[in-house]
Amino acid sequence: MATRVVVGTQWGDEGKGKYIDMLAKTSDIVVRFSGGNNAGHTIVANGTKYSLHLIPSGILHSGKTCIISNGVVVDPAVLLDEIKDLNSKGISTDRLLISGRAHVIMPYHKVLDEVQEKFRGANSIGTTKRGIGPCYSDKTDRCGIRMCDLIDEDLFIKRVKENLEIKNLIIEKVYGGEKLSEEKIISEYLEYGRLLKNHVCDVNSIIFEAIDNKKDILFEGAQATFLDLDFGTYPFVTSSNPIAGGVCTGAGVGPVYIDEVYGVLKAYTSRVGAGPFPTEQDNHIGDTIRELGFEYGTTTKRPRRCGWLDAVMIRYAAKVNGLTALAINHVDTIGKIENIKLCVAYEKDGVRINSFPCSLKDLEKCVPIYEEFDGWDIDISNVKTFEELPANAKRYLKRIEEIIGVKIKLIGVGKEREQTIVV
Ligand code: GDP
Ligand code: IMO
Ligand code: MG
Repeated sequence: MATRVVVGTQWGDEGKGKYIDMLAKTSDIVVRFSGGNNAGHTIVANGTKYSLHLIPSGILHSGKTCIISNGVVVDPAVLLDEIKDLNSKGISTDRLLISGRAHVIMPYHKVLDEVQEKFRGANSIGTTKRGIGPCYSDKTDRCGIRMCDLIDEDLFIKRVKENLEIKNLIIEKVYGGEKLSEEKIISEYLEYGRLLKNHVCDVNSIIFEAIDNKKDILFEGAQATFLDLDFGTYPFVTSSNPIAGGVCTGAGVGPVYIDEVYGVLKAYTSRVGAGPFPTEQDNHIGDTIRELGFEYGTTTKRPRRCGWLDAVMIRYAAKVNGLTALAINHVDTIGKIENIKLCVAYEKDGVRINSFPCSLKDLEKCVPIYEEFDGWDIDISNVKTFEELPANAKRYLKRIEEIIGVKIKLIGVGKEREQTIVV
């Protein structure tokens, strides 16, 4: 039996979906434990591309129980669309279970996300505008609406009325926006509740039982360490805890039950949205990486900012998450660059530092110290073992492993689920 966690070690889009899909094959249960439909996880299986936002990426394997746990915020319309889309592709969602404790993203959360971003102007975070931040704010403000409330019609109507009165005042009087209709929200959402009712249950008992029966459980992370509300580049972060510790609160699992933590990274770095990025290449190098790696958002289609791999970040992520293995993607992509740079430390005020500063002002002062590597412009997309990789690729990967102090277990050499080297 093993409980494994998959987390992002950078700013998201590291290719978590591909590895979750792969590890799901040998898991009984897959649990998505944080975030919402701000996530976009791509899986390419047998030439078909799947973009999942809420449903655990284990759904593509039949017979797996897929759980959306309490740490997730659920937009029911998006979830129903995703269910419909999967079903139309012949994928069953009968084994999809949703925690009654998961919070519901309401229309006013999406409106508030939009108007707050507009109000921030030049300081905007570049959110996905999916209502994620406002929904988590309501959760901590103790006025959120949960999935168990959504399926209880009388309670849901009461909760909407209580919330909408104040939300409409804020939307109208503070932000100059348009009031939302109570009747429309109630009728739309009650229908969502009816359609999702059969999926909502006490998922924690199922997880506890699986742990007692020594089943294999995979915890699917969304977002990443540097988007974490506590450990990321605050305030340019998301509003949840996507780190491995988020499994404890987001799925109700004590830390002693976690066996392995896989940290997913790209062989370079990308970021969508605003915020600092020490190794960013806002130049022809970044453009080349973007084109070679096809770096455009799965959720918002925005071009991703690209730059060199930053080992200072990954070392920090290794500690924060307690990584037991690294899973590195896009090794095929980076090899096409003639001179690859790897950031091994920063120089700040003339001093070499190995840690990731918490103050953004300090981070801005950090100048990356690079080591240089030669690329390997040969097609590695069909390579199956570490030994078969070109010498330059092995050198680059060995150095990453050495600096981070965590073993690389999985190496991505292409988009397809099979294009993975298991070390
Ligand atoms: P996630 O959010 O972490 O699941 O990652 P995304 O799906 O948003 O972004 C990762 C992108 O990289 C997707 O387009 C994947 O198909 C692609 N990808 C993943 N691994 C590899 C790889 O090893 N090589 C290449 N060329 N593409 C990859
Ligand atoms: P996956 O799971 C990349 C970013 C947004 C923005 C910030 C806050 O696919 O790796 P939010 O809408 O969460 O309030 O936006 O976080 N962001 C992501 N970037 N991948 C993601 O998920 C992301 N989820 C949120 O771009 O900068
Ligand atoms: Mg993504």
